[in-house]
Amino acid sequence: MMNKKLRDHYWHLLCHRSELPQPGDFLRLQWLGQDIVAANDAGEIIVFDNLCPHRGARFFDAEYGNAPISCAYHGWTFQAGTLLIPSREKYQACELSKVSMGMLKTEWCGDFLFASVKPAQTLDMQLGELSQQLASISMDINGRADWNAYTYECDWKIAIENGLDSLHTPYVHTDTLGRLSLSDPDNVYIADNSTASFQITDASVAKKLRSAARLFSRTEPIDGYISIYLFPFTMLTSTCGLSYSLQNFFPSAQEQKTHFYSRLLKTSLRAGVPAVSMDHFFLSTAEVNRQVFREDHHICSRIPIQGYDWNDVSRLSVDEEKIIHFRKSLQRVASAGDV
Ligand code: FES
Ligand SMILES: [Fe+2]
Repeated sequence: MMNKKLRDHYWHLLCHRSELPQPGDFLRLQWLGQDIVAANDAGEIIVFDNLCPHRGARFFDAEYGNAPISCAYHGWTFQAGTLLIPSREKYQACELSKVSMGMLKTEWCGDFLFASVKPAQTLDMQLGELSQQLASISMDINGRADWNAYTYECDWKIAIENGLDSLHTPYVHTDTLGRLSLSDPDNVYIADNSTASFQITDASVAKKLRSAARLFSRTEPIDGYISIYLFPFTMLTSTCGLSYSLQNFFPSAQEQKTHFYSRLLKTSLRAGVPAVSMDHFFLSTAEVNRQVFREDHHICSRIPIQGYDWNDVSRLSVDEEKIIHFRKSLQRVASAGDV
């Protein structure tokens, strides 16, 4: 119940506009045993449940790609906002005018697409003061460099708490994130969301990143490592704003599993910098990110959900302050009703 409520009543950041630039571009995510598809329908981005309204076949099997929204079973096709039904005369006994796609509500924050099944509040209310920063970040992004998705063998709350925890970095990410020698975070809380900003204390790494930053066209000044948590399922992280990692940790219908999706989003390049010259940079960033997530997944899979209690914050250090905030949000949602 709790997971369904969090899924249906909140807005979720699904993707960046530049991930779906062409008509026919789509991406498919899973949550609680159901699909969600974001697609470019003749220039308009729509979000729907991936189910054909005829007899419920899933339109898309692939995780992403370019294809018409056309059902492989009997050819029903959704195009430019209209449902096209082959051999329409055969459906004379049906009330086709009442048939519609399972659309979700959508909202934009800059070029970030949010969707919700049945939102309890407006996107602006949910994001609070974060919306300005998010919109500004979204304007710096241009395209996806990597799609990395698999099942985390843990509950989604364990995965989110891992993302909110800076205490584990030197232990779990010794040769990856640990190399940045991050400072203690500066935490900011905005409604149920939180942000953490870290300085990079390794001087030679910081210098290299600063010189790389000159190749990019950024309006959002990010100096160091930043991690933005969007309650309940999403994180956006970045090193110096040179690229952004968008992560969704969607609950699974199965216990001890999480649908993990991470996308590496590219920051726009300064005029005159050839895109191909940065291929290697984005490729190696993608590889490091993949390794960091493997490390996180590995440690998270060692934590059974049975011992988890969001009411208990009695053993959390100052470096786990954001987890306390997260657990309080869960407590509040749980006490607000039927879970
Ligand atoms: S189930 Fe899709 S056209 Fe029949
Ligand atoms: Fe981690």
